Amino acid sequence: MIKSAVLIFCILSVAHAAEWCLKPDPISASVAETPAEKLAPDTPKCSLESPELVMGRLVNGTADRDADLLPSWVDLKLAARGQKWALDNIPLISGSHIFGLMFVLAFPDNNAVLLFTNQSDTANLAMKRYASTIEQVNTWYNGSLKESTDDNDILSSLLRVRGLHTAAMKAGNERMHGENPRPLINKELYERVQLDEGMWKAFETDLKNSDVTEKFRKVPEKYTGRDGKYYAVSQFQQAMTQFAFVGFPVLFPERLFLLDAKDEDLVAYNHLWAVLGHALGIEDEYNIALQPDLKTTKEYYQHIYENWYLPQFFNLDFHTKVLMEAQLQGFEKIDDILTPRTLLLRILRDIVKIPVPNMTRELTPKDHHKMLQFHAKGNLFYK
Ligand code: HEM
Repeated sequence: MIKSAVLIFCILSVAHAAEWCLKPDPISASVAETPAEKLAPDTPKCSLESPELVMGRLVNGTADRDADLLPSWVDLKLAARGQKWALDNIPLISGSHIFGLMFVLAFPDNNAVLLFTNQSDTANLAMKRYASTIEQVNTWYNGSLKESTDDNDILSSLLRVRGLHTAAMKAGNERMHGENPRPLINKELYERVQLDEGMWKAFETDLKNSDVTEKFRKVPEKYTGRDGKYYAVSQFQQAMTQFAFVGFPVLFPERLFLLDAKDEDLVAYNHLWAVLGHALGIEDEYNIALQPDLKTTKEYYQHIYENWYLPQFFNLDFHTKVLMEAQLQGFEKIDDILTPRTLLLRILRDIVKIPVPNMTRELTPKDHHKMLQFHAKGNLFYK
């Protein structure tokens, strides 16, 4: 009897020690109100529930950080395993980032900031901007995450990106909420843009004819897009952008052909992104990678995907398409195998998992050729 009680106690203690973060108590109360003494020193608070993340639209997205950028709860060994796994699978992981970025550009408040900075709203600019983004992110997967900013490529890159975000946040907030308040997007700049209407119609028709349930076609009411008050580079946008990098590999490894992904790899990769998110200024409440365990993380990411990500695709407005199309053309300039139509088709077919008869009909002979090349390249890689 005593033996089994001791055993149960040990199991419970191990389970507790293995917890990645501590849930606030009660869940609906503000996490910020959780008394600090309730938390173990090196255990972060878990993020808010997914529907509550939207509160972060009114919270600046780049929280102050100590000089070393790393959180007290970093597990350097686990993060290093996450880096190794990402590097071992870099073509597929980079592909997942491209898919993720296309989704996250569809958020109107997010794309407003990027249209405002004018660094990625034409094909050439988008090419430069995203080649640089991919380079930076690959830097974060390569090398030691040691706890000093001196002479460390990863930490200096993170500092640089934090600087870019802070500058965009200040300028954007000044424009929206300063002395002469104006919307972020200068609409005159885009009056003459001609969209590829055939491509967008096919994309929207395939989505409309799909079996995606009604609920996931509507943006949650509390998210008002570009209307109402929101901060440029907010904690909500940060959380959604973090999902663009961490979400799909953890949620859909098989859809990305990450066929050998072990749970331990996903845990490690997720932890890495919790750390990177922290370094970039995401508060624990909005750091979506802070979940109690892998099972909860997957459920949480499924909720983000269905309730935050998918609805954006069903509600694209003109300016969103302007930025997405520039982005698609930019990717093609980085690698001509990624034509805009084949990329959109693959997002719907491979990630959203819906039939794509209209997108397929829209493919040009060049697109078909690139699609074949892509699959041939893929077959080589997966063997
Ligand atoms: C986890 C979240 C995020 C990651 C990993 C990330 C990553 C990056 C990277 C790597 C760059 C550097 C690109 C370069 O070298 O030119 C960058 C720049 C930038 N990011 Fe982020 N970002 C995140 C969130 C956001 C959010 C939420 C916004 C705003 C809505 C944003 C807006 C910008 C802007 C404005 C720049 C400067 C270049 C430009 O004007 O386009 N980022 N980001």
